[in-house]
Amino acid sequence: MRDLRVHFRTEDGVVKAVDGLSFDLERGRTLGIVGESGSGKSVANQAVLGLHDPANTRVSGEIHLDGQELTTTGERKLERLRGNKVAMIFQDPLTALSPYHTVGRQIAEPFRKHRGAGRREARERAVEMLGKVGIPNPRKRVDDYPHQFSGGMRQRAMIAMALVCDPDLLIADEPTTALDVTVQAQILDLLMELQQEFGSAIIMITHDLGVVSQVSDDVLVMYAGRAVERGTVHEVLHRPQHPYTWGLLTSMPRLTGDVGQELVPIGGTPPSLLHAPPGCPFAPRCAFPGEVAGPASCETDRPALPEGRGAACHLSAEQKRTFFVERIQPRLR
Ligand SMILES: Nc1ncnc2c1ncn2[C@@H]1O[C@H](COP(=O)(O)OP(=O)(O)O)[C@@H](O)[C@H]1O
Ligand code: SF4
Ligand SMILES: [Mg+2]
Repeated sequence: MRDLRVHFRTEDGVVKAVDGLSFDLERGRTLGIVGESGSGKSVANQAVLGLHDPANTRVSGEIHLDGQELTTTGERKLERLRGNKVAMIFQDPLTALSPYHTVGRQIAEPFRKHRGAGRREARERAVEMLGKVGIPNPRKRVDDYPHQFSGGMRQRAMIAMALVCDPDLLIADEPTTALDVTVQAQILDLLMELQQEFGSAIIMITHDLGVVSQVSDDVLVMYAGRAVERGTVHEVLHRPQHPYTWGLLTSMPRLTGDVGQELVPIGGTPPSLLHAPPGCPFAPRCAFPGEVAGPASCETDRPALPEGRGAACHLSAEQKRTFFVERIQPRLR
């Protein structure tokens, strides 16, 4: 993805939901995209599948999938990619699964459409996929309707549906947010296991740093429609450089922490995407603008995210390192 922008025309003005997002993802790897609700995670990834209504949306920038540029690809070609080369799983399987068709039929459908499989072959494939995602007695359960499945089983069925055509890219948009923690852990394990088998690249969208730490190789932290920090999962979780990432970490409960330890939420709210401030979008909530030593101003100059490992912040490299070690890390113990 290169400099992706997704702007919505609304009655109140132009909402810049994604405003200059770039990242790379290799086959077999998992990129965790993390950020508060409303930071543009879903909107950016819906653009990969061409899901925005062209009537009121302006999408610019480039999205290359295996050599093919997607933002200029027409609807008919996109149809052939969706559920085939790229698949998506959502937070709520009940809205993604139709209540009127059996689970098996819904898993078989993309296999018939994209692989030209006959009814019987596709049904066999659905049974096989249900088995792979850990549904007991798949040959019998293939004829069940979604309401006959538990929440965790429905999410497994949706994963089966997403993987049935062996996609190159799987986009998982908060896939475990609606599940309780034990089922969440099982589903994440399952995704990682299936990734080994299918070799797909995965984009894991979540607001939960715990999920990111469990599954990701690399992490992109999003804020107000942009990436503010990027690195490997170890770098971002253990040596974070951006004040917003510091805020995410200190607001998260820890199993090993003091029982009485206070969790500090990030004060304030994200900026309006209608009238983005000219400088750093995090400035109104940040405790560090006074420390910036160079000529750049947090209020008027927008910090850029460097290529590769780094954070979009005017603090010096030395400050990013020492402030974390001296002021933030002690609060994480
Ligand atoms: N069709 C739309 N028209 C106008 N604004 C939208 C539309 N879709 C999403 N948005 C706005 O874009 C922003 C990013 O949304 P989203 O990507 O869903 O956030 P999240 O990071 O929680 O997935 C939000 O402020 C949302 O209200
Ligand atoms: S650029 Fe300034 S306001 Fe933005 S995160 Fe860095 S210190 Fe905070
Ligand atoms: Mg979302």
